[in-house]
Amino acid sequence: MTASLDEIAYKMCADGKGLLAADESSSTIKKRFDAIGVESTFENRRDYREMLFRSDEAMRNYISGVILYDETIRQNAKDGTPLVKLIEAAGSIPGIKVDLGAKPQAGAPGETITEGLDGLGERFKEYYELGARFAKWRAVIDIGTHIPSYTSILANAQALARYAALAQAANIVPIVEPEVLMDGDHDIDRCYEVTEWVLKEVFQQLFYARIRLEGMVLKPNMVVPGKKSPKQVSVEEVAEKTIRCLKNCVPSAVPGIAFLSGGQSDEEATAHLDAMVRIGGYPWPMTFSYGRALQAAPQKAWSGKAENVAAGQAAFTHRARMNSLAALGQWSVEIEQKKAA
Ligand code: 13P
Repeated sequence: MTASLDEIAYKMCADGKGLLAADESSSTIKKRFDAIGVESTFENRRDYREMLFRSDEAMRNYISGVILYDETIRQNAKDGTPLVKLIEAAGSIPGIKVDLGAKPQAGAPGETITEGLDGLGERFKEYYELGARFAKWRAVIDIGTHIPSYTSILANAQALARYAALAQAANIVPIVEPEVLMDGDHDIDRCYEVTEWVLKEVFQQLFYARIRLEGMVLKPNMVVPGKKSPKQVSVEEVAEKTIRCLKNCVPSAVPGIAFLSGGQSDEEATAHLDAMVRIGGYPWPMTFSYGRALQAAPQKAWSGKAENVAAGQAAFTHRARMNSLAALGQWSVEIEQKKAA
């Protein structure tokens, strides 16, 4: 018997566990490696990801699933064990990023449309054989003068819905990720307004595409001011506005919400999740699906050196534990600093 979509989705957002987004494309992981002075070779990418997936304490206790990139789902550890098997052996679920990236959208200057629908049904069959039980597709919405446009929001929401339908048809749980970027100088209320608009459209299109909401996971941005906004706000304001926005848009049938970190600092991403969980009063489990906010510290500690693997694993385990505590509403600055000291 294979596990049903609903069971997998439920497990992905189990109490105190969240997702590790390790699905950086070759160009993105190169940027991350450049920052720590490591060459982005096939072997270095393998060694780095093997280090994470062999972090037994973190993987067993705090990481419900790992989002992989196409290269990684086919890659073996140094001893020949498929990396997917390391994830499964730790009781975690392998997943796969299937979109082919956000490309300039014709007819919508300054905006992007995520590509990758052609042939996706066939690709899902292969990914299922390789062990993937959930998938991710990321739509990117930027905020600026005159953008986003409805042209772009609609096209991206329709693509997310088509992807989700193909995933569910292949018995793979779709992570639906409409990311409103925090790159601009807009304030938090503009982020609220755009996030609300995008989520309303996404759930409308998911309905038209006959998606089973119980068998998906939503991966949204938090409602935050742009990085360049002069009006930065408190952790509580982010938490309150994010919950309010989601309660207005996300049906309670959705089995879980797993946030992206989107360029927030490690500790901000943790503090915001913790504050939301402490406020409570919403119908879905809320957890993390962080890329940068889980990996920046281990990348730095590792820096491409075999002798630093234990330090890299310790840094990853610490961040995973902090985010696990946040998902339970049990994190604090004191706990954060006690471990770091
Ligand atoms: P960040 O947490 O770094 O935003 O990455 C999560 C992700 O999967 C983005 O698509």
